[in-house]
Amino acid sequence: MRPAPASRPTVVVTRKLPGPVEDRLEREFATRLNRDDHPFTAPELQEALRGADALLPTVTDRITTEELSVEPLRARILANFGVGYNHIDVHAAKARGLVVTNTPEVLTDDTADDAVMLMLMVARRAGEAERHVRSRQWTGWRPTHMLGTRVSGKTLGLVGMGRIARAVATRAHCGFGMRVVFHDPYPPPPALAAELGAEQQSSLDAVLREADFVSLHCPATPETRHLIDTERLALMKPTAFLINTARGDIVDEAALVAALKEQRIAGAALDVYEREPQVTPDLLTMENVVLLPHLGSATQETRVAMGLRAFENLQAFFSGAPPRDRVV
Ligand code: DGY
Repeated sequence: MRPAPASRPTVVVTRKLPGPVEDRLEREFATRLNRDDHPFTAPELQEALRGADALLPTVTDRITTEELSVEPLRARILANFGVGYNHIDVHAAKARGLVVTNTPEVLTDDTADDAVMLMLMVARRAGEAERHVRSRQWTGWRPTHMLGTRVSGKTLGLVGMGRIARAVATRAHCGFGMRVVFHDPYPPPPALAAELGAEQQSSLDAVLREADFVSLHCPATPETRHLIDTERLALMKPTAFLINTARGDIVDEAALVAALKEQRIAGAALDVYEREPQVTPDLLTMENVVLLPHLGSATQETRVAMGLRAFENLQAFFSGAPPRDRVV
């Protein structure tokens, strides 16, 4: 391979990306790819921050004050592959003069689809039913076999009303005739909520009391850590289900396990976990829980679009233009 011209910025990509994205990055930058797709260790992240002009990290990289304290720091931008950036200490990054970007919009529809899929799966016992067939326990159709819960016409409670929540609201309201209620400290304009058939509630607690399905769509911040705790779970109906496609630490996983064990809620469907990739062992044993491995944006189309968006942010930055998706 020819050495990259000195003028090309060096970019370290921390995980394997879809082929078209890696090709594009390699054409434009002196790109260091992660060929075996191993999760970077803290020393590897520090080495990248010392040795490259840019990092293209993902949710599996914890970039804290410690990683960012390296000397000398060469990196000038963290072009995150993903919309959520709670794994990056953005204040520490800013203090060190780093620009941080994310990849909004391109994953909205797929993540909304994921939330709806989880809602249907947990309500109609799809995971449990699949395991039943695969384990050859199915003896044939019968009127009382594996009865689930109807989704159509029920009330969906959205915690947060950003882009993904609004896409879920559209699907739920227009597709399933659901009543949609929501709470967001920064709500969308009333006309927009009305267009989606969504009713704003005065508090999160009101949403939890009303909803048959509670779907989480707020960012992970210090304020939203364990937002769904023992007390909040106690507000949910015993027939209600919790769906989380946002971030794991919004839910106190131990409190969720207790609520499920004591049948204080009917079930949960999770795409994200408090200590990914670890899952609280009790959850693995519960039939009324659906567990997916953080698949919200996991389609070929979206993962390419996310990579190209991160690429565009890098391209803009190194050409002296403001990156479109700058978060700090
Ligand atoms: C996102 O984009 O935030 C996804 O959860 C992957 O990080």
